[in-house]
Amino acid sequence: MGQDLEKVLIPEDELQAKIKELAARIDQDYAGKDLLLVGVLKGAVMVMADLAKYLHLGVQMDWMAVSSYGAGTKSSGVVRVLKDLDTDIMGRHVLIVEDIIDSGLTLHWLLENLKSRDPASLEICAALRKPDAVKVPIDVKYVGFDIPNEFVIGYGLDYAERYRNLPFIGTLAPHVYK
Ligand code: PRP
Repeated sequence: MGQDLEKVLIPEDELQAKIKELAARIDQDYAGKDLLLVGVLKGAVMVMADLAKYLHLGVQMDWMAVSSYGAGTKSSGVVRVLKDLDTDIMGRHVLIVEDIIDSGLTLHWLLENLKSRDPASLEICAALRKPDAVKVPIDVKYVGFDIPNEFVIGYGLDYAERYRNLPFIGTLAPHVYK
């Protein structure tokens, strides 16, 4: 994988330290509450697993898989549910767990969708955010890192379904996608 990688943007130890820090804040904020983590497949798998392990709270986990409609760019804002939650979230404290907020369109849609199910509370935890790519502002309670508007891979993030298992965040060498 070495030649495909341009540079390491966030090394593994920094990622882990940050996720641990977010877990400590979440432990504090949800003390005494029953929390449901909702991971957005597939990218959120790594951050979900690490976050859940660092939490001292007993939590439940559920998953949603969403995709943009049609063959257009993924930032169309029109989202199709490929897998819905197994859990009824009415009256539950829900924390959405995401790998990255790019345009914000996926989360904007997801927030509206989940809000309509009447949870007791609904917040977001995202490992990464690209402030320069935002098309719709999202109120994110827990953010790991703000990163530049570059094509990033690793820690759940893919290029053509590859590189998700890298334990760090890196950028892809242009020859891979050009
Ligand atoms: C990524 C990421 C977010 C979304 C963010 O998912 O996990 O869900 O894109 O982009 P946005 O802010 O521009 O909407 P992707 O659609 O690549 O699917 P994946 O998680 O299966 O890789």
